[in-house]
Amino acid sequence: MQLSISFFSNIKEIKSDLITLFVFSNKHLFENQINKIKKFLSNNIDRVLRLEKFNGEFESSCFIYTDKNFKSPIIQLIGLGDQKNINNETFRKASAIAALNANKFKLNHISIIFPELIKGLTPKHIAKAIFEGVVLSQYKFDKFLSPNQRKTRLKKLTLIYDSLKQREELNEAKLESKIICDGIFLARDLTNMPASELYPKIFANYAKKSAKEYNYKAQIWNKEKIKKIGLNGLIAVSSGSKHPPRFIILKYDGEKSHKSNIVLIGKGITFDSGGLSLKSADNMAEMKMDMSGAAVVLATIQSVARMKIPVNLIGLIPICENMPSGSALKPGDIIKHYGGKTSEVANTDAEGRLILADALAYAHKFKPELVIDIATLTGAVISALGHHVTAILGNDQEYIKKIKQAGEQTYERVWELPLYDEYKKQIKSEVADVKNIGTRGAGVITAALFLKNFISDKNGKEYKWIHLDIAGTAIINEGSYYIQSGASGVGVRLLTEFFKTNYS
Ligand code: BES
Ligand code: MN
Ligand code: ZN
Repeated sequence: MQLSISFFSNIKEIKSDLITLFVFSNKHLFENQINKIKKFLSNNIDRVLRLEKFNGEFESSCFIYTDKNFKSPIIQLIGLGDQKNINNETFRKASAIAALNANKFKLNHISIIFPELIKGLTPKHIAKAIFEGVVLSQYKFDKFLSPNQRKTRLKKLTLIYDSLKQREELNEAKLESKIICDGIFLARDLTNMPASELYPKIFANYAKKSAKEYNYKAQIWNKEKIKKIGLNGLIAVSSGSKHPPRFIILKYDGEKSHKSNIVLIGKGITFDSGGLSLKSADNMAEMKMDMSGAAVVLATIQSVARMKIPVNLIGLIPICENMPSGSALKPGDIIKHYGGKTSEVANTDAEGRLILADALAYAHKFKPELVIDIATLTGAVISALGHHVTAILGNDQEYIKKIKQAGEQTYERVWELPLYDEYKKQIKSEVADVKNIGTRGAGVITAALFLKNFISDKNGKEYKWIHLDIAGTAIINEGSYYIQSGASGVGVRLLTEFFKTNYS
C-alpha cells in the first residue's frame, strides 16, 4: 500500500475515494466537530446522523455522501469514544475499522484527517497508530486462493494534516510504519505458509534474501556443520524428518564501537507433529506455525536494520521439522547439548526447548549484554493467559520492565510469570541434568526453567535473559481490527519498539 501525507486546509479539495474523520463521543466535543464539517455540506447532516444514530461511540461509523463541490464522494465519521479513554490503541483500532469499511465499498484510496491532539500522545504516536491500523488490517494470507476469491485491498492511504508544524513527525511516522508493517507482513507470511512450502531450507533462503536486501549478514549452517559444532538438540529433533535442519546466524552491526551485543533467539519448528509422542489430529494443522518465533527474529532484525537503529543484534535461529519416523528421536533418549549439559527426552513433543537449549548455550560465544528468546513453546500458556497476552519470564527486572513498557506502547502486552526455584524439582531427571517435561502444573514456568539451565557459562554465571512464550498470541483464530485470523506477527512491534526507544 502506498502511504502518503498531505497538507490541506479545505476538506472539499481532498481527492480520494473516502475521507475519514475521527469523532469523539463527548457531547460538547461531538457537536463542535460536527459543526465544523456542517458548514461545508449543503445536505442536511443532522438527518443522516439521526438516521444512523451516530454519536461518536467507539466502533461506530457513519457515511455522508458529498455533493459535486467535493473531490471525494464520501465522508465517513469514525467514533473514537470518550476522549479521556483514548490512547494509541484506540487509533489503531479505529483506523482499522475505517479501512475495513473502505474494503466493503471496494475502494482504492482512503484519506484520513489527522485528529486533534490527545494528552499524552505526540503527533508521531498518533500517526504511527493510524498507519499501522490501516496497513495491518489489510493483510490476508490469500496467496493460495483463486484470484477472484481474494479480498480487495486498499492501494493508497493519505494522512491529511493542517498544521505544517506536524509535517516532520508525520513523515517519520510514515517511514517507520512502512518498515514495521513490511516486517510484520513477512512474519505473518512465513508463519501462515504451510509446512509443505516452508521447510528449513526455504526459511533460510528468506533470511538470506532479507539480509542481502537490507545490508546485514546471514550465515546458514547445514546439517553437517550443525553436527560438527555440536548443536545436538537440533540434530536430535530433526532426525525424523526428510528435511534437514538449518542453523541461521543473523548479524546486524548498527553500533560501530561494538560496546555490546544483544542476541535474539527464535524457535523454528516448521512443523510440529509431536514426533513419536504424536499429537492428536484435532489441532495438528495449526502446528505449521511453530516457527513464529523464528519469523519474529528475522522480521525484527530486518526492521531494526532498515531503521538503522544504533544497536548490535545477533539472531540465532535453530530450525527443523519435528516428525515421527524410523529414524526419529525417541522418548527415553538423552541429548548432550552444545556446551555439555544433558537432557532426558521424556516426550518428543516438548521439542522447542531442545533446539533452544543449543542456541542459548551457543549465545555465550557473543558475550551478550542481553539474550531474548521468543517461542511458541507451550500449550500451557494458553490456559494461563489465553490469546491476548504473551508470557514473559527472565532473570533481569530492569529489562523486563523495559519490555513491559514496549508492550504497553505497542499493545503487544506481556505479563510476567515467576521463575521460583521451587518449581525446579518438577523437571528433575534421574539420568540427565534436566528432563524435557515437568510434572503436572505450571507448564510455562517449567519450560522456562528448562531453558534457564543453558544460560549459565562454565563458571555458573548467567547472562541477562528474557523468555517470551507466544504460543497463545502468535496465532489468532478469531480476527479483529488490525489482526485478521491467522498469524499475528506478535513480537515484531514489541521488540522493534524496545530497540527504538532504548537504543536510539
Ligand atoms: N508447539 C507446541 C506448543 C503449542 C501448543 C504452540 C499450542 C501453539 C499452540 C510445543 O512444542 C508443544 O507441543 N508443547 C507441549 C509440551 C508438553 C509435551 C510438555 C504442550 O504444550 O502440550
Ligand atoms: Mn511440540
Ligand atoms: Zn512445538
